[in-house]
Amino acid sequence: MTDDGILRFPEGFLWGTATSSYQIEGAVHQDGRGPSIWDTQCHATNLVTDGHTGDVSVDHYNRMPQDVEMMARLGLRAYRFSVAWPRIQPTGSGPVNQPGLDFYSRLVDELLRHDITPALTLYHWDLPQALEDLGGWPARDTAYRFADYARLVFEALHDRVDIWATHNEPWCSSMLGYADPSHAPGRTDPIAATRAVHHINLSHGLAVEAMRGIDAGPRQGVVINLMPMHVVGDDADGAAADGVRRYDALRNRVWLEPMLLGRYPEDAVADLEAFGGLPVEEGDLEAIAQPLDWLGVNYYNDDHVRAEPGGHWLATPGMKDAVLFTPEGEHTDMGWPITPDGLCALMVELRDSYADLPPVYITENGCAYDDPVVDGACHDPRRIAYLDAHLRAVHAAIAEGVDVRGYFQWSLMDNFEWSHGYHKRFGIVHVDYDTLVRTPKDSAYWYREVIARNGLEPRSQ
Ligand code: FCB
Repeated sequence: MTDDGILRFPEGFLWGTATSSYQIEGAVHQDGRGPSIWDTQCHATNLVTDGHTGDVSVDHYNRMPQDVEMMARLGLRAYRFSVAWPRIQPTGSGPVNQPGLDFYSRLVDELLRHDITPALTLYHWDLPQALEDLGGWPARDTAYRFADYARLVFEALHDRVDIWATHNEPWCSSMLGYADPSHAPGRTDPIAATRAVHHINLSHGLAVEAMRGIDAGPRQGVVINLMPMHVVGDDADGAAADGVRRYDALRNRVWLEPMLLGRYPEDAVADLEAFGGLPVEEGDLEAIAQPLDWLGVNYYNDDHVRAEPGGHWLATPGMKDAVLFTPEGEHTDMGWPITPDGLCALMVELRDSYADLPPVYITENGCAYDDPVVDGACHDPRRIAYLDAHLRAVHAAIAEGVDVRGYFQWSLMDNFEWSHGYHKRFGIVHVDYDTLVRTPKDSAYWYREVIARNGLEPRSQ
């Protein structure tokens, strides 16, 4: 806090927004892009609300220069985006598809021209369908293919991109993708999901090693959706506590421990024996534990688990007589509770649990609310309140000594929200899905001021 009452962030704090390839690009058949597992999920299943697809989405692929210009007008200093693997290698292996790679090269140039720092994620869930047909993440070979793909992108962009992430939310790519049908590839096979966990970890390590072999300068990291979780209510038999332990192991520790400590948590290893076991081979743990330059944390809310006879959850295999639920009270359009204090607590716990924790970026945080455009304006006070509360939590964590270097709001603009289709609007920019017209919401202008003053105004009350 300074004399003027402003909650200032450290000098150089990086302010941005985030998106991902399949959620915004559209242009799924353009310039040689191959199909991904999300094209298949949208077109070949009924697992996406109202049959929505990413075919057109918000057509960012064709509107990129205008979108970057808009970012600049909104005062954004950084932009986290992901590269679509099927644009780089349409079938997941083999030579580079140059037009696909050129798109990201132009994007990076456009960002730099506007003084916007690019932060690149290599994998935000759009696995080439051809690799899924060969077994997907449950197949060990996919980890090696990923390292090849990382090398191709890195060779082209390492001279201009300093912030690199291998994976976005590997728990979603493994457990949601292979054990719970809501995410592509929509399989319900806990044995496959268990194998996917290890191979995604391995792919991360192999990719970081491959990229560092080319140039050790750019900063290497990974983005994990860490989740604080709580037992709520009567739990005499300990079913909810056991559910939380299993969920915490799969959601949080099964990534952090191998990546930061070079070992799997013992309880996870034991739990997963019932599902074929983690397919660890000699040398894998060393390969996974590459030193990281930064850690990305995606945070939306805390989760809550209560005992319920017969209850279970596919995404946490082995969880029994317990369920996830949303407690009473205010929540967003996703049905997610609003728990900003959890973000500060999570940061502090992370710092206290991992001695060599690298600097942290909040790589996603935001909320879905549907507010209309009226007379050219979109008033979204609930989003402003949500972002303000979570930024105060980030500030509190920094005040506690946690090394947080930046914050990426999710998302720059409304987009395809996976199994929810276009029904959930996370953007600080509204998109009219008929005309694709972009209209910055009040929150975008509010965020611009936060960025300009590098801080939050004192609370009014
Ligand atoms: C995260 C995803 C992102 C977006 C937000 C709402 O889990 O990384 O793509 O869907 O949730």
